[in-house]
Amino acid sequence: MAREKTKYVCKECGYETPRWLGKCPSCGEWSSLVEEVITAVPAGHSKDVSKGPAPCPITELETVGTNRFTSGIAELDRVLGGGIVPGSVVLIGGDPGIGKSTLLLQVSGAVSTDTKVLYVSGEESSNQVKLRGDRLGIRSDNLLILPEVDLERIEYWIENTSPGLVVIDSIQTVFTKDLTSAPGSVSQVSQCASRLMRKAKELEIPICLVGHVTKQGAIAGPKVLEHIVDTVLYFEGERHHSFRILRCVKNRFGSTNEIGVFQMGDSGLSEITNPSEVFLSGRSHTVAGSCVTASVEGTRPILVEIEALVTRTPFGVPRRTTTGIDSNRVAIILAVLEKRAGLGLSMCDVYVSVAGGARLNEPAADLAVACAVASSFRNALCHPDVVIIGEVGLSGEIRGVSRIESRVAEAAKIGFKKCIIPASNRAVLTEHESLQVIPVRTISEALEHAMKR
Ligand code: TYD
Ligand code: MG
Repeated sequence: MAREKTKYVCKECGYETPRWLGKCPSCGEWSSLVEEVITAVPAGHSKDVSKGPAPCPITELETVGTNRFTSGIAELDRVLGGGIVPGSVVLIGGDPGIGKSTLLLQVSGAVSTDTKVLYVSGEESSNQVKLRGDRLGIRSDNLLILPEVDLERIEYWIENTSPGLVVIDSIQTVFTKDLTSAPGSVSQVSQCASRLMRKAKELEIPICLVGHVTKQGAIAGPKVLEHIVDTVLYFEGERHHSFRILRCVKNRFGSTNEIGVFQMGDSGLSEITNPSEVFLSGRSHTVAGSCVTASVEGTRPILVEIEALVTRTPFGVPRRTTTGIDSNRVAIILAVLEKRAGLGLSMCDVYVSVAGGARLNEPAADLAVACAVASSFRNALCHPDVVIIGEVGLSGEIRGVSRIESRVAEAAKIGFKKCIIPASNRAVLTEHESLQVIPVRTISEALEHAMKR
């Protein structure tokens, strides 16, 4: 009788069974069993334990430069930390139709001017890729299109074409015959990803994987996928806006928090080098409840507009809704406004939104949120040429923020006239002749300066 090649293991307790079961008999968890390949002793593993690498002092290790190469798209290079590292595996996640395939085809087109690129398409036929390529103006003999979903065949072609870059669109369509589970299942996705990872390291070829995103916003398939790969990028944006933001959430070869901004047009994605102007483009100067803050994303300061709407609540329980900013953070700021600045917000619905599809997750935006809410509550305009920066403490004090210099410089560059900053940041700031700096200590002081009366 042939031996079973796979087993099912419970994700929760580690219980093993040769057959799939709906409920784990050991811990009682439902649908927790995933298929795994039974590996005997790995090939090349000998009994002699003295063979193989021995521990070595870190000072005696050679420093090998990572000779990164450019992806041909400067925004992507910056998000990756300066280009593509040979042998690295990059996972790009994003909602359907956001432009992952478009971005990677453009990268493939750019890289194929220097070296061979293997574009494995599991979702679209060669013809569809060709049509898209024509639209993007990609013509290169070095760009090889392979419509394939079988992992073994993909590995064969990676070895036999020796490309400088491999793109797999998408990892959820790839499957190996070693497992009986369907493509896209947890076991298939993690097994295929780790095999590709090994291939990438072995042949020193960078591989870009496209990953689907679930309704909850995580990359579909297991979280282990994010652990396996070197770099995880999320491609996001509002469907109704043409802007797309590429965000790095994990990077073994550079910093995270870095973002790249793109615009989807008729001939594919184009880079946006001055995102501040884009995020401020639709700003209205005649309505209360809007103000501008300078947020730092990675190494780059970006000016964004924060809008707030405060209305009387028709029900007993006021509603607080936010987009692009953490609602708990906003709840704290509302409480501080109520207690320390005397705004009666408890009977009001409050809506806060970051314009243009941007997302803020640093406390330096606190004060701007507070000013936008106060402005809408009092129906008083914020000065249109003021940028507001600062973290709000629970006692209403304004705390210093990091990178104040680059934030203020960005505000001056875009043409703002005044900048409200935390008083504790004043000392480290050099003078800008075109921009007046207003240091503030408390939230009431800041509201005083931010609004017209
Ligand atoms: P696509 O790259 O197929 O998205 P994903 O692979 O993430 O699912 O992007 C498809 C969308 O992009 C589709 O709605 C059409 C739009 N698009 C343009 O607007 N211009 C273009 O030049 C291209 C190629 C696509
Ligand atoms: Mg696609």
